[in-house]
Amino acid sequence: MRAWADSVRRDGLRLCVVPTMGYLHEGHLALIRAGRVRADIVVVTIFVNPLQFAANEDLGSYPRDEAGDIVKARGAGADVVFCPRHEELYPKGFQTHVEVEDLSRPLCGSSRPSHFRGVATVVTKLFHLTKPHLAVFGQKDYQQLALIRRMVEDLDFGIEILGIPIMREDDGLAMSSRNAYLRGDARGQALCLYRGLRAAEVAYSAGERTSSVLLGEVQRVIATAQMARIDYVEMCHPHTLQPLTEVADDGALIAVAVFIEYEAETEADAIKDRTLVRLIDNLLLQPSPS
Ligand code: PAJ
Repeated sequence: MRAWADSVRRDGLRLCVVPTMGYLHEGHLALIRAGRVRADIVVVTIFVNPLQFAANEDLGSYPRDEAGDIVKARGAGADVVFCPRHEELYPKGFQTHVEVEDLSRPLCGSSRPSHFRGVATVVTKLFHLTKPHLAVFGQKDYQQLALIRRMVEDLDFGIEILGIPIMREDDGLAMSSRNAYLRGDARGQALCLYRGLRAAEVAYSAGERTSSVLLGEVQRVIATAQMARIDYVEMCHPHTLQPLTEVADDGALIAVAVFIEYEAETEADAIKDRTLVRLIDNLLLQPSPS
């Protein structure tokens, strides 16, 4: 991969990478298309990174479809799909990690303490392997994008980072590989994240600026979904991710994480199985015109 990237760069071509964990959907494809129009060569990486999953999380069941992903990625304009194996990225004895300190603590970092260390480490490795000029990430994972921007600046990667708005299903649900876990009523219940954020947006448009009121709107809507349990609903500064009590001059981010918890019959033995799906979404409130 490195030798090939070197040769592309020697030819004077602009190289873009789109890191993913696969099971590609339209959100991922939007990233690839954005890269396609800004670079000569687009590399998509597919790697379900064990380092960013905690022991109790869904590493084992994370949806996978490498053959389908390759077809979709190429259809969206990818030139190369890079699918490294676990032993290639993490050989025996691996012990070096990248930590972006303050940005990895709030929001998802508080319920997933080692998650962003895993993300920053694998993205560093993928950057070193694919040697891009440009890398594209989604605003769906807003904290991840903020942290990668910080890391690239702090560690002098010299890579341009492009953020792409959240792609949604027709009814507003943010696209996610994990939506594949939502069966039956759970799919409808998952809409509470988007509807809650919309309620906050309506209040913001009507002039509301106080965090407790705006977050109250989100919580009120989520509380109507019986399968939903809030992990966090927070308003924070769009760059530092520090909590805000009022929308700042730079605007504000409202970020939510919700567990959808339900019982589903497993296909094999018709035993009811408790399923827990963690979904995230966010809304960027633009600064008020002065
Ligand atoms: P993954 O969840 O597969 O997402 C890959 C990229 O697609 C991320 O940049 C994510 O923000 C973006 N994305 C996902 N859903 C999106 C949506 N609905 N709209 C717009 N963009 C969306 O994020 C990861 O993988 C991993 O943490 C990774 C960066 C690959 C490191 O392992």
